[in-house]
Amino acid sequence: MRKKLIAANWKMYKTPEQTAAFFREFLPLVAAHTRDEIVVCPPYIDLQTAVAAAEGSNVAVGAQNVHWEKEGAFTGEISATMLTSLGVTHVIIGHSERRQYFNETDDTVNRKLEIALENGLTPILCVGEVLEEREAGLTEDVLRRQCMRAFNGISARKAAKLVLAYEPVWAIGTGKTATPQMASDAHQVIRHEAEKAFGKEFAEGLRILYGGSVKPENATVLMAEAEIDGALVGGASLDPASFTKIVKY
Ligand code: 13P
Repeated sequence: MRKKLIAANWKMYKTPEQTAAFFREFLPLVAAHTRDEIVVCPPYIDLQTAVAAAEGSNVAVGAQNVHWEKEGAFTGEISATMLTSLGVTHVIIGHSERRQYFNETDDTVNRKLEIALENGLTPILCVGEVLEEREAGLTEDVLRRQCMRAFNGISARKAAKLVLAYEPVWAIGTGKTATPQMASDAHQVIRHEAEKAFGKEFAEGLRILYGGSVKPENATVLMAEAEIDGALVGGASLDPASFTKIVKY
């Protein structure tokens, strides 16, 4: 049995004050919850506040991005060791918004994955097709390519902590959700790529989250799917009550 992971991706929302307020309300609501792993990924500037607030709780803190080099002249960037030194344990890599707006490529995703794993972070690697690709029947090809290139040169031993997130781009922030069947099919493609790269046992243990307009109203149906091992939640994770309902699907 794969333990499900429910992760919040706050994107560019909340100040440190708002982060502290979220945790004050959220932690008591989920304090007794052990069925699923819970991770909150706020903007960089909120990480310290989030880690301090979540200390000793059942909620882990993740970043939304990381640079692929150890350190150097990379103005505005943040390294993996900077994240771990704060107590951050997870990091989202290759989110479609970074691929779309910030020139993230399969190659940089691969390099980021490597440095995250080297530093003991749990990467949440995002893959997913855009609407035109789905309509052209290219979903499988896109997922295979994104996985294959992301996994390039990484051993199964090194990849042990890896988590995948299937996020169809057309479902992000649109209120359109993939049907459980669509998500399940995509997850099987991803699991198969993981099997090719890392072996059968690894693939069977790999958690693949679904992301894209996950809401309290659809979480139960999605999480009932055997292939769906959790959720990566955007908009609906910003409110403690709404995110709690998803955690407790
Ligand atoms: P929404 O839940 O707002 O659709 O965002 C999904 C997402 O991009 C999570 O990473």
